[in-house]
Amino acid sequence: MVTRSASSFRLLSYLVVLLLLPLLSFAADPDPLQDFCVADMSAPPLLNGFPCKPASEVTSGDFFFDGFMKEGNTTNTFGVNLTVGNVLSFPGLNTLGISMNRVDFARGGINPPHYHPRGSETGVVMKGKLLVGFVTTRNVFHSKVLTAGQMFVIPRGLVHFQKNVGEGKALAFTAFNSHMPGAEVLPFTLFASTPPIPNDVLTQAFQVEEDVVKSIKSKFAS
Ligand SMILES: *[C@@H]1O[C@H](CO)[C@@H](O)[C@H](O)[C@H]1NC(C)=O
Ligand SMILES: *[C@@H]1O[C@H](CO)[C@@H](O)[C@H](O)[C@H]1NC(C)=O
Repeated sequence: MVTRSASSFRLLSYLVVLLLLPLLSFAADPDPLQDFCVADMSAPPLLNGFPCKPASEVTSGDFFFDGFMKEGNTTNTFGVNLTVGNVLSFPGLNTLGISMNRVDFARGGINPPHYHPRGSETGVVMKGKLLVGFVTTRNVFHSKVLTAGQMFVIPRGLVHFQKNVGEGKALAFTAFNSHMPGAEVLPFTLFASTPPIPNDVLTQAFQVEEDVVKSIKSKFAS
């Protein structure tokens, strides 16, 4: 009798542990929605977003956004213009974990290598011909040339770009599983930060002479 109740107790313990395992693996911090959140200890606690407008003041207009109707001006260094539909421009997205961008490309324009720390990205080409590519953490490059109606996905946090390889303008819409995915655009991140990354760090990292680093920095000087 003693052995039988001991073994059923053991079986019960295994069952309890098995049942709890999934709960344990879900007991993680929620994903951050901002780069950082320096706590204001005198304010009421806020989690994952901006404070909410009182329900009595919400109107239909809060759930619609006209920002994508106009083509962006692509007369700039990269020949690209991003019209951003995130929580900052479209407050109705707050805490919903989604957002979109309109991306206009001049002929030959590039959305330079960058990554989004807080979101995976999907996109669909509406017009033109785009070379879309990203590099995995194993340093494998995946790419394809897409035309109107074709879709792509960029897994969260991976370095990627889009380049207009067609004869005319190109247009794409992208979507993110974050209300503010954030972006680190590598040319600016590495060569135009404030304050700047020291030249000797960059010469050593890229194995080039200092004049190369200075030349790149001068292109992005504001
Ligand atoms: C993007 O286009 C808008 C609208 O034409 C313009 O106001 C903005 O300056 C452009 N941004 C860049 C980086 O060229
Ligand atoms: C686009 O931007 C360029 C550079 O800022 C400017 O010279 C040009 O007038 C703008 N074009 C339009 C249509 O606003």
